[in-house]
Amino acid sequence: MQPEENLQIDPTVPTVARVYDYYLGGTDNYEADRILAAQIDELLPGTRGLALNNRRFLERITQFLASDCGIRQFIDHGSGLPTQNNVHQIAQRVHPDARVIYNDNDSICAVHGQRLLADDDSTAFILADMRDTDIILNHPDTKRLIDFSEPVAVLFNSVLHCIPDRDDPIGLVHRVMDRVAPGSYLALAHLVSDDPDMRRKLTDLMLGATQGNWGRLRTVDEVRPCFDGLEVIEPGLVELTTWRPDDRRQEQTWDMIEFPGFRS
Ligand SMILES: C[S@@+](CC[C@H](N)C(=O)[O-])C[C@H]1O[C@@H](n2cnc3c(N)ncnc32)[C@H](O)[C@@H]1O
Repeated sequence: MQPEENLQIDPTVPTVARVYDYYLGGTDNYEADRILAAQIDELLPGTRGLALNNRRFLERITQFLASDCGIRQFIDHGSGLPTQNNVHQIAQRVHPDARVIYNDNDSICAVHGQRLLADDDSTAFILADMRDTDIILNHPDTKRLIDFSEPVAVLFNSVLHCIPDRDDPIGLVHRVMDRVAPGSYLALAHLVSDDPDMRRKLTDLMLGATQGNWGRLRTVDEVRPCFDGLEVIEPGLVELTTWRPDDRRQEQTWDMIEFPGFRS
């Protein structure tokens, strides 16, 4: 790892990527991240289970997209820190020629992602804000790896709640889906709650701790329009541990939804 002063890493301000890394049992997190995790746990005990379940969902959906849908190219927005069973590893077990573009705006993800992928010509990591669709989709690595005349799996897994309403997260999803070929897929998970008090408390906590660098806890109905114009795959919009489940569910006390869609 490069010295921290050469990276845009401020260990005193927590980031979503590092808090998530902490929940998954990783080591790329600082005290500020662990303090925020403790505050989230106080508000919502069982959040570690939620993070683990989210990661398991990402594994299941990648496996499904590669093996059942025959997808060989993936664009993974807000990919986070590499851990076990990353998207390219799962996809390439099914299709050795699978290509993956990873994107995140957190420098620490870039350092580890670029190192992990250094010897893999069929994957690349782009350090960019996912709101900059043109930068990501027109990037030389994207042009090299992704054939936009063929179906692509577009992933926004557990990231859109980081985008505030003023930056139009729904429009962002549609901008990307408008650029991919017929037969492409969209998969996403989003933190949701029906409880207005909970939505306000978690949003305030995350906005305060990240110095405004977060979005909003939303309702299911607020997320649903991401899939306007897409054919939704069974079992539809459900809590993610119940989407084609395996036997690895962790206890969690609140819900995320996932909603894989299909562009016809
Ligand atoms: C909870 S993690 C999810 C990681 C991974 N997608 C998964 O499901 O395992 C959220 C990730 O989104 C990234 N992120 C948040 N806002 C972003 C933005 N505007 N552009 C790119 N990445 C962003 C964070 O840095 C973090 O790595």
